[in-house]
Amino acid sequence: MTLRHFLQFRDFSRETFADLFERTRWIKDKFKRYEPHHVLFDRTLVMVFEKASTRTRLSFEAGFQQLGGSAIYLNTRDSQLGRGEPIEDSAEIISRMSDLVMIRTFEQSVIERFAAHSRVPVINGLTNEYHPCQVLADLYTFIEQRGAITGRTVAWVGDANNMCNTWLQAAEVLDFRVHVSSPPGYGPNPELNRITDNPHVRLFEDPMEACRGAHLVSTDVWTSMGYEAENEARMKAFADWRVDADMMRVADKDAIFMHCLPAHRGEEVTPEVIDGPQSVVWDEAENRMHAQKALMEFLLLGQQENA
Ligand code: CP
Ligand code: NVA
Repeated sequence: MTLRHFLQFRDFSRETFADLFERTRWIKDKFKRYEPHHVLFDRTLVMVFEKASTRTRLSFEAGFQQLGGSAIYLNTRDSQLGRGEPIEDSAEIISRMSDLVMIRTFEQSVIERFAAHSRVPVINGLTNEYHPCQVLADLYTFIEQRGAITGRTVAWVGDANNMCNTWLQAAEVLDFRVHVSSPPGYGPNPELNRITDNPHVRLFEDPMEACRGAHLVSTDVWTSMGYEAENEARMKAFADWRVDADMMRVADKDAIFMHCLPAHRGEEVTPEVIDGPQSVVWDEAENRMHAQKALMEFLLLGQQENA
C-alpha cells in the first residue's frame, strides 16, 4: 500500500472524505452497540506531544485501543525530543517501532520533516498552522446533525488561527463557503490561504455580518498554544469578537455552534451560546474519536467496505 499521511486537510480528496464520513458513521454505530472492531490488532500508535492536550490524546489513545492496538504517549518534557535530538532521527527511530504516528507540535515544517523521514503514516494532531483532525470531526458532526456541507456557509469569528486555516482548506476541498471576521491584524495569513478571488472565502469587518445567514458558527480561543506572550494585547484586540446570542440570532434559523474546546466562557463565546440549545460542542468532541478511528483504519488498511 502507498504510504499516506494526513498533515493538512487538502492532503485528501473530496471522494476520500466522503468515504471517511460514511465509515465514521458505521464505526460510531458499532461502538454504540458495544460491538468489537479489532481490525488493528497488534498494531502500535505512537503519539508525540510537544503541546498540552486532553481531547486529542484521549480520542487517539481510546480510539486506537478500541481498534485492537496499543498506543504509546511521548512528550517533549521526558523524551529526547526535548533535548534537541533531530526530528529526522526521531522519525527514523519512532517509525521503525510503530505502525502509525500522531504528532502535536509547533511549526508545520516540523511535522513535514518528520513525515519525510517516516516509514509509517503520520497524522497532524495540531500545529501552529493547522488542526485537520478537528475539522474532520467538525464536518462529520455538521453532516450528522444537518446533512451535506456542500453549498453551506460557515462563519468563523475571531482568531484566524490553525482552526481557521483548516476550515479555509476544507471549504475548497468540499465546496462550501467560510465567512471570516477577525480583529485587524489577526485575519487569515495570505501566505497560507488564497483570500483574494476565492469564491469559498469572504472577509468581514463586523462579526455580526459574518454570522448573518450562516449554517454553522464557530470560534476558538483568543490566544492559541505557543502565543501566550501576546495574551494581553489579544484580550484587548478581540473584545468585540465574542460569539453571543445576537450573532446566533442573525445566523440561519437552524444554525449550530461549534468550538474545538477548550473554551473560555465570557471571552470568545458567551455561556448562553456554548451551553445553549444550538451548541453541539459535546458531540463535536466525541466525534473526534469516531472520525479518527476511521482515519487511522484508512491510513493502515486502505478504504474499507461498511459490512
Ligand atoms: N480540541 C482539541 O484538540 O483539544 P485538546 O487540546 O484537549 O487536544
Ligand atoms: N487554536 C487552539 C486549538 C486548541 C485545540 C490552539 O492551537 O491552542
